[in-house]
Amino acid sequence: MNYPLWVVPHIGGTWVIGIISIIHVFISHFAVGGGIFLAFAEELAYKKNDDRIYDFLKQHSRFFVLLTTVAGAITGVGIWFSVSLVSPDGLASLIQSFTLAWAEEYLFFVAELATAFAYYYTWDRISKTEHLFLARLYMIFSIFTLVIINGILTFMLTPGKWMVNHYWLDGVFNPTYFPSLGIRILIMLAIAGMYALVTSSRIKEPRFRAFMVRYCAKWLLPVFILGPIFMVWFLTQIPQASIDTIFTGIQTSGVGNFSVLARALYLSMVLSGTILLFAYFGPYLNPKAFTFRIAIMFMVCGLAVTGTTEWMREMLRKPYVIYGYLYSNGIHKDDVQTISSQGFLNKGKWASALAQHANSEEERGELIFRYQCLACHTADGYRSMKKLLGARDEEAIENFLQILRKTDPKSNNYTGIMPTLAVNDAELKSLAKYLSTINVEERHHAEQVGAKPDVKENASTVQ
Ligand code: HEC
Repeated sequence: MNYPLWVVPHIGGTWVIGIISIIHVFISHFAVGGGIFLAFAEELAYKKNDDRIYDFLKQHSRFFVLLTTVAGAITGVGIWFSVSLVSPDGLASLIQSFTLAWAEEYLFFVAELATAFAYYYTWDRISKTEHLFLARLYMIFSIFTLVIINGILTFMLTPGKWMVNHYWLDGVFNPTYFPSLGIRILIMLAIAGMYALVTSSRIKEPRFRAFMVRYCAKWLLPVFILGPIFMVWFLTQIPQASIDTIFTGIQTSGVGNFSVLARALYLSMVLSGTILLFAYFGPYLNPKAFTFRIAIMFMVCGLAVTGTTEWMREMLRKPYVIYGYLYSNGIHKDDVQTISSQGFLNKGKWASALAQHANSEEERGELIFRYQCLACHTADGYRSMKKLLGARDEEAIENFLQILRKTDPKSNNYTGIMPTLAVNDAELKSLAKYLSTINVEERHHAEQVGAKPDVKENASTVQ
């Protein structure tokens, strides 16, 4: 509310962030996991004094360095750009709380990039011992980028003691820090193994190819053995309300009690199981029969699991950016009361400036919609207001908004999925007026078929 917002039609700004982030997650996990892989595989080559492994690593690292330094860096910066345009208030809060952590992250990132280039361009130019040292250095720097960013990502879901003292290190080492670090490292090792399977499958000499394929397949094992333990540990640390949303779900989305989160959870479990079986019977037991095509299939499954899991983690946190503290729309939970009494359009710096130029009630309503709802909805695209408002008329919308304004979960059954609406009485009316211009067609349609608008809101809509 204090900064200008980028309104993205149809898909919504969150999907712009989402798409860039998912690509970045794949690449950055590869950067860290691949770093560990390169260091270990080079140690193997060094110990066995095997030139074939060295040759393979030279090939593999070309692809690695190109992908992680170019695409990794571009998407990483892309996340910053898109988040600062779509949810500037949330980002400002994160920057202010963790300035030192971000600075360290940046430092390690620069060190990581520099080592990656040094590592790649010194093949055959320095001694094998020195080169192995560079590989290990890269591994350490890239692990450190994870060690820091993991603190900030987990903080958003479980801020823990930080909620009381606002001390940044308590925020970083929050309740889900260690289980999440464990899960991420395991996933990174598996992704590194999958990428290396792709390059190994192209080795010409059959016996050496079988050896490398088997070696790479072993990198998938740790996540299947230790992953479930870390996952259970992780689940014991997250807020009960989030677990409830996984298993009870949101009925309005048309999936009944079987929530989107539960479906995503099952999808990621089924995909993981498939990968495990295929990895065991394929590259591990039958490395000779392994082909480039199968390697690509593995990759696609692996990325699908990572994408789904990452998306689930994001969903768990809703309706917050920082759980229990800052809502997805950038409003602090504790500010809702004051904003409701003094008016939203009088408080936010940028929103209030825009409001002075708003000429009609609808325009004021649109501003509130933009600042309080667009973080999760669009007018007529992703999670569209048009569809979700259905046949409600202005009065029905007002009744709905009255519910959205309440803080008590007993009278507002949306508290687990939507932020409390922070407006005064006049603003609520303006918002209702604006919203009723969005679903005009839906209302006409309902009138034609004779359905009554759903004026009465009740607890059965959301379970
Ligand atoms: C943190 C994300 C978030 C924000 C912010 C948010 N919503 Fe929602 N809203 C949701 C989700 C999730 C659903 C359920 C969607 C579904 O079932 O497909 C929902 C559902 C709805 C529905 C349908 C409810 C029903 O039971 O029929 C309406 C109407 C709605 N939102 C209006 C709003 C308005 C108006 C605002 C702004 C004041 C807002 N939302 C802000 C996430 C959000």
